[in-house]
Order: sequence, then C-alpha cells, then structure tokens
Amino acid sequence: MGIKYVEEKKIFHLDTGHTTYLIGLSPEGYVGHIYYGRRLKSGGSNYLLRMNEAPFTPSVREREKASFMDFFPTEYPAGGVGDYRESCLDVRSASGSVGCELIFKEYRIFRGKPGLAGLPASFGREGEVETLELVCEDALLKLEVTLSYSVFADTDVITRSVRVENRGEEHLKLEKVYSACLDMDNREFEMLTLVGSWARERHIQRGRIRCGKQMVSSTKGESSHQEHPFLALVTPETTEETGEVYAMNFVYSGNFMAQAELSQFRQVRMTMGIHADYFCWNLRPGESFQAPEAVLTYSAEGLGRMTRNFHDFYRGHLIRSPHQYAKRPVLINNWEATYFDFNSEKLLEIAREAKKAGIEMLVMDDGWFGKRNFDDSSLGDWTVNEEKITSGLPDLVRKVNEIGLQFGIWFEPEMISPDSELYRKHPDWAIQIAGRTPAQSRTQYVLDLSRKEIVDYAYNCVAKILRSAPIAYVKWDMNRQLCDIGGACLDRESQGELMHRYVLGVYEMQERLVTDFPELLLENCSGGGARFDPGMLYYSPQIWCSDNVDAVERLRIQEGTALVYPLSTMGAHVGDCPNHIVGRNTPFDTRAHVAMAGAFGYELDITKIAEEERAKIPAQVEEYHRYQPLMQRGDYYRLASWSMEKPYDCWEVASKDGSEALVTFVQVLAEPNVHSYALRLKGLLAQAEYVLEGTDQTWYGEELMQCGYLVLSGQGDFRSSRYHFVKKQ
Ligand code: DGJ
Repeated sequence: MGIKYVEEKKIFHLDTGHTTYLIGLSPEGYVGHIYYGRRLKSGGSNYLLRMNEAPFTPSVREREKASFMDFFPTEYPAGGVGDYRESCLDVRSASGSVGCELIFKEYRIFRGKPGLAGLPASFGREGEVETLELVCEDALLKLEVTLSYSVFADTDVITRSVRVENRGEEHLKLEKVYSACLDMDNREFEMLTLVGSWARERHIQRGRIRCGKQMVSSTKGESSHQEHPFLALVTPETTEETGEVYAMNFVYSGNFMAQAELSQFRQVRMTMGIHADYFCWNLRPGESFQAPEAVLTYSAEGLGRMTRNFHDFYRGHLIRSPHQYAKRPVLINNWEATYFDFNSEKLLEIAREAKKAGIEMLVMDDGWFGKRNFDDSSLGDWTVNEEKITSGLPDLVRKVNEIGLQFGIWFEPEMISPDSELYRKHPDWAIQIAGRTPAQSRTQYVLDLSRKEIVDYAYNCVAKILRSAPIAYVKWDMNRQLCDIGGACLDRESQGELMHRYVLGVYEMQERLVTDFPELLLENCSGGGARFDPGMLYYSPQIWCSDNVDAVERLRIQEGTALVYPLSTMGAHVGDCPNHIVGRNTPFDTRAHVAMAGAFGYELDITKIAEEERAKIPAQVEEYHRYQPLMQRGDYYRLASWSMEKPYDCWEVASKDGSEALVTFVQVLAEPNVHSYALRLKGLLAQAEYVLEGTDQTWYGEELMQCGYLVLSGQGDFRSSRYHFVKKQ
C-alpha cells in the first residue's frame, strides 16, 4: 500500500486498501491517467494510454499532436494546445494568448501531507498518509504546476490539489485552475448529484450521461442550496451494495464546478474545481496560487461503501473539532419559537422549561443586537440590544448558566445591513460594482472580506462578544448569496480575484475563531444548508442541514446529506407542528427519531407545546445520548429509501466491531393490505447471536442480514420506531 514509482515503465502506483490509481508518462513527458479502480495486486502498465492508436484517418501514419491531445487520457489538461475537452488550467500570457503545455519535470514521494496555505485541507499522521507531487512545467510561460496526490490507505481516499507558480518574468493571468480531473472510458455511466433549493437541500438526482458537458455548479459565492460540490459517476447497475462508483467532493465553500463530459471517443472526463466564471487570478513573477483540495474515492461495492469511505475519511482526516466525538449538548434554539420577538425574560422562560426537560443548552438566535426586530437592519452592529436583553448579555448568560444550561449565540458576521451604523460609516465595505446600485437580498449586502481591515473588524466583533461572557456555542449564519462582484480596493486587473479572496477571508475568520476559542462548539449555517460542505467541516463539526425541520422533508434532505457526510455533522432539530414551512403534522416521536440521526436539538417554544410532548423530551434526550457514541463512530447503511419510491424509510448504524446496531424505521405513508416488511440488516457478525433490546427475542446475525427483521405496516402515516440489536455475550 502507498505510493511507488516504477522507473522502467514510468508509472506511478497509488494504492489504498481496496483501490489502485495509476499514472503514466508519455515519451514527451505528458502526464497520463492509466487507471483508477479496484486494487491491482500485480504490476500495471501503460497500454491504456493508447499512445499509438490513430483516432482518425488523416493521422493514421504517425501520431499528430492535435488529435493526440484531444484523446490522450490526462491527469491535468491545460487549455489551448489541442485538447478540446474541458481544460483544468487556462493561462493567459503577457501577450494575451491562452495556451499552456505541461511537461513532467520531477516527482517527490513522501510520508504525511502538508497543509494548504489559507485553505481547509485533510490531514493525517505520517503512517496514515503518503503524498506524491508531480512537478510539471510549461517552458515558454516558465510556469510550474505541482499536482499533489495524497493517499489515505485506510479509507480508500485519494485527495488531489494543485499549486501553480510563476517562475518567469512575465505577468500571467490564471483564468481557470481546477483541482482534479479523471479521464476514463465511458461505461454507460450515470451521474449522481445533490441538488435542490432552500428548504429542499441535497436531494439525490441520478441520470445517464450524454454526449457533451453536464455539470453542477455555483457562482453564488458559496456552495449553495441549489447544487452541491459533489459528483459521482456510477455504473448503471449500481445499488447500495453493488456496482462501481467514482466520487469527487470539493473541500471548498465558494464557487465551484463539478462536471462530466462525454467526448466524441466515448471517454468521460470528470472535473472539479473553482468555477472559472468570475475568476481571474494574477500570477506575477515569483507568485504562486494554491487550488483547493478535491477528495476522490472509488467503490466497487456500490454507494454504501462510497458513503462509508467519505464518513470515515471526514471523521478521521478533516474534522478537527474536539467536539467531534464528545458528548454534544442537546440544545434548544429560539428561532422557530420566537423569531425576532423575544427578550431576556422570554429566553429565561424557555431555559427554565428546557432545563426541566433535560435539555442542555439554550441558543439565542437572530435578533439580539443593534435594533434588529426584523430581518431588515443592524447586521454589522454587533452590540447587544438592551431593550431586549435588558440586563445585558453577561447577566443573561449567567442566569441561563444558573438555571443549568450552557449558552449559545447566533452571528451573521459576513453581512452588512444598509440600515446599520456600520453601513452609514462605511458604505464602501459592501461588495458592489462602482456606479451600479447593488442588489439587496434579505435586505442586506455582503461585506468585502477580501479586505483585511474588514475581516479584522468582523472577527473582532464576534470575539468581543465571546469574551464578554461564557458562551459555549456559536451558530455562524450566512443568509444571502453574492452578486455585483466588485471590490473597492481591488484594481482593475484584480477584480476577478474577489470571490476567491472572499472565501479565504471567511476561512481566515473561522481559523482565528477556532484558534482563539478552542473549546467553542461552532455550527456553520447558511440560510439553512447552503454551506454544508467539506470546507466548513474543517472548522465546525456540525452544520445546520436545512431550515426545513419537517420530519418527512428531512428524510430526503438527510438521506442526500448523509450520502457524503457523517451523521454527526448534520444539525437536526425537532420543530413544532404544523411545520412552519410545509404545514404538515407529524408525531412528536417521529420528529425526534428523524432528528436523532444528526446533531440533535429542539427548535420550538417549549413553554407552549402540549404537555404530553413536553413530557417526552427527557427520555428523548437520554436516548440521544445513549446512542450518540454509536452514531458518531459507527457505519451507516441506508436500508430503504422513501425518496427512492419506498413507502417507508429505514437506516441503520452498526458499530465497527459488529457488536450492536441501531435501526430507525419511518412508515411515511401507511399501506393497506400488505404484510410486514423484511428489513435486511448490515454490518453484523453472521454467526453471532443478537438480542433486540427491551425483549428477549434473539436472531443470528446472518438471519437478520439475509432474511431480515420483520416490521409491521400498521395504521397511520408518519410513524417511526427504533430497534437496537445487541450481540449476546
Ligand atoms: C437562517 C437560519 O438557517 C435559521 O436557522 C435562522 O438562524 C435564521 N437564518 C435567522 O435569520
């Protein structure tokens, strides 16, 4: 396992536990992609580069460059020199032409993995990860391009990133720098993506790829509600357990592009990187540019294995927070309880009831600062509104702590309201195009975080509040997308850098936050789940999944989210009924069972809900904590999917050693005149005997896995149940 170079064949072997990735060099030094897939135990050679095949008659006698370039399966295609498929690197020279030809120069193989300056990135100890750097250059531009591959053998993941350095004397412009490319023969691939909208984030979409380019992307300045920086190509027969899956996920929180292109020669090019629209980076002599990281995994055992690779990888190699495996407090958030209409007394009332029910933290959401009584003012004025928080924040926090709850607070640090002291003082701090009235969204503008003084201001506002009282948790929100992309301090040449510099500014603020407040539990959020991405997981162990807390809608949202991200990262709360977004009524138990799939909490006015619901909360809190270690570390299996046409939804988390498994079943719509459903469990030990907790019924692991556990379809919609199977000693 690991990385080796076979000099005679000019082939680099990258091996993980179950996969092999082969890179080969052409005689000229083009870096070709030979193979990615199931682990090859013996050798490997470069015949798949097909270097001597003539794709069309005019070049039949000998290889002709343009037709060669347009077919050669390459690791990192640069644009302008004959490969007409999607390029990964477009460089404009000082003379104005676009063209770049990358020729291999040297390589380095070493243990460990360096960080990426200013960017979130996965990590591993020396024994866990090895890195290959392929250094290529364009002799004319004097441009050096380093392709980095880090191999995480334990999770079948290979990460990729790219660094571009100007070693010449000319001022170059990078018009596109993607992070990863995978050229493969088409195997009737289907493209699986996560798409949606506000309150409908990350629904799974799957369909056959066609000739030409198909992509998901965002130019909204964040990863977005609508399309997600994830792409998988799957063979047609792929199910949860069978079929081949090639997946890429982007460790970045801004504009992105993830694309599959089916070419004239039935090859597929899969690419991922920062979207080239609105992007142009100056690379002056001596400067370098670091592209973000892409995470690649291959599974020969269907989507389930892909999911578990991502989960293990993110838990082990991306999430840094000390809270990841710690007992997470069950919180109550006042947003859906009060919206902007609250004061200290109301919060204390909620806190007192919450304490009685066993809840552990109160989170004060939007509306506590400036003169914000609606969403049309005060962003940027991070001073406590003492008309609402009457005796001041430290006193409120003290009282909440005395009641026995921790205290958490909401911020939206990246924004500025036109109606704010900050805007009156610094109207130029908003992102805008000089001379054009910028578009408002939720009556707000976005701060220009490409400017150091604005990053400092926004960060210091947050830090000052956190230093004023013992605050244990921050919800970092971001409620609008970027447009009118203009920066007052960037010159004409540099306007194309703004959107990436903005993201770097966000990362810098979050890095400072987690460094200065190492104990803080940070939850990222963006108008629901518009910034649920691996970049954010580097800073926060949990992210608000969606503003939609309806139990049925959440099945689909959480299924799509958990396709890639560990359950413990999904902020999930029990809301009130009828649900505020879809008006649906669901049982309190079902809302809790669905929310317990993620980082659990409540989002309702506990002082007003029915007594029988309130009475259920202590047992729910206890149940969440009881299974939390299993949910945080176990293997997740989708057993049945309501969104994929089943009348019920079912998922399981099994411990890695097979000693226990927790199954959650949700009967979405009751079916008449059917027998019981057989739920075939996964991840158990075939020969071990399991008892269903709370009963004396036992089964062998193989019975539960091959024959199934029977669940009756009873009466009534939206009912749920949970089953905990424990291996007998
Ligand atoms: C959007 C978030 O997703 C909500 O939970 C809430 O915090 C509001 N913003 C507050 O404005």
